[in-house]
Amino acid sequence: MSERKSEEPCAVGAHTSTVSRRSFLVTAGTAGIVGAVDAAEVMGQSQYADPPGTVDRRGTVAVVLRINGKEHRLRVDPRTTLLDCLRETVALTGTKKGCDHGQCGACTVHVNGRRVNSCLSFAVMHDGDSITTVEGLGTPAAQHPMQAAFVACDAYQCGYCTSGQIMSAVALLKEPCGPNDADVKELMSGNICRCGAYQNIVAAIQQVRRTA
Ligand code: FES
Ligand code: FES
Repeated sequence: MSERKSEEPCAVGAHTSTVSRRSFLVTAGTAGIVGAVDAAEVMGQSQYADPPGTVDRRGTVAVVLRINGKEHRLRVDPRTTLLDCLRETVALTGTKKGCDHGQCGACTVHVNGRRVNSCLSFAVMHDGDSITTVEGLGTPAAQHPMQAAFVACDAYQCGYCTSGQIMSAVALLKEPCGPNDADVKELMSGNICRCGAYQNIVAAIQQVRRTA
């Protein structure tokens, strides 16, 4: 990972011309950045017709979540966090579990347009809510500008925190935020990166903010 000043433009799409260790890593990293396919299609058992709130004999509760623009009628244990529901019931594994205690931001998703730590709320609390995960932001062929900027600015290393960073960064674009790097750092302070890619993360966000 190379560090850059936030005012230096990152070349979007500059990493795709040759197959090298670096381009391989970028390709692998991009897969993590844009997330996996919507595997809920494969998990037919995630679709139920029961009215929301219905409790069955096993104690599972019917809930309807609109995830990445698609309605999911689910049955979940009421103790299931939104994070576990997304990853294990709907099989959208782009959202990561880091601390599971609201401290790292790896699990950040958007609920009705606002960022939340999905490990801190229960799935049943989101009946009728509209949820966006990293899989809903863009695709490898049509990345969200923030996803493209993270690739261009080398804003990740292992990539584990990256989907949460990107979801927070996209939400930040609609939040009151001053123009300086320090302002961005303050609003991104809930997202921890164990690899220390902070400088390039800020550069990616500032690049998108300059062109938005
Ligand atoms: S896994 Fe949710 S904040 Fe760390
Ligand atoms: S890129 Fe490794 S934890 Fe952030």
